[in-house]
Amino acid sequence: MENRSGKAANAISLLSSWSANQLQFLSEKVDQETRSVLLDILRDCHSGEQYLQQMTTKQPFYRQQIAQQTVAQSMVSGQLVAQLLQLLIRISGARTILELGTLTGYSALAMAEVLPDDGRLITCDRIAQANFNMVPWGAKIEFRLGLIGDTLEQLIAEKWQFDFVFLDADKRNYSNYFRTIIDHNLLRSGGILCADNTLFRGEVWQLKPSAIPLAIDEFNRLVAQDDRVEQILLPLRDGLTILYRH
Ligand SMILES: C[S@@+](CC[C@H](N)C(=O)[O-])C[C@H]1O[C@@H](n2cnc3c(N)ncnc32)[C@H](O)[C@@H]1O
Repeated sequence: MENRSGKAANAISLLSSWSANQLQFLSEKVDQETRSVLLDILRDCHSGEQYLQQMTTKQPFYRQQIAQQTVAQSMVSGQLVAQLLQLLIRISGARTILELGTLTGYSALAMAEVLPDDGRLITCDRIAQANFNMVPWGAKIEFRLGLIGDTLEQLIAEKWQFDFVFLDADKRNYSNYFRTIIDHNLLRSGGILCADNTLFRGEVWQLKPSAIPLAIDEFNRLVAQDDRVEQILLPLRDGLTILYRH
């Protein structure tokens, strides 16, 4: 029994990034033996993520540095999501990109890295904390400081149309941002939009989700019912929705 408790403690420490809600659920709703088995399974999932990282193209040193130097490290989209974004940009031949939510520039620089030389990426945030001068392709990036709602209005007024959009800002406004982007044609027909964290640690399907997972669930349902787009919600990391605009 001691051995299993030790395993459970080890698994809990591995899962320290999981939400308090989920760990509380595990400890309250099931007996100790069941909890231990569940934690074994979750630990396997954790190893699975490590395996995915090992088998996916490595992130370059500059991005490792950005991720390490970001105070809110869990907010950085990370190697797996960045690699998928890069592949989608390459495959689709996107030349203009809009990113909502810059943070320290990890995903913006990853996307700009694979844009053609004449490509353009606009990224926006209410806080300026990214350094785009650290690599040459930072020159393809334009940073817009301010609330995203205001920036979207500016971009509409300036008649921008993007080939690719990465949605990674405040989750409570995902539905509003989606409506604005699609209704005002900020994403062109044939363009791709990716939205990060659309599973929100699995909390979107809990019986009593809190405010953020509820808002994400609303976004997921809005997208699922909109026949202007087709999409897939991938269980990659914290959930990534890839959407194609007809
Ligand atoms: C998850 S982080 C972005 C992470 C980044 N895409 C990456 O992968 O490194 C979300 C960012 O959105 C910004 N943000 C949240 N709500 C915002 C709003 N209403 N207007 C502007 N920026 C906002 C936050 O300041 C934060 O930097």
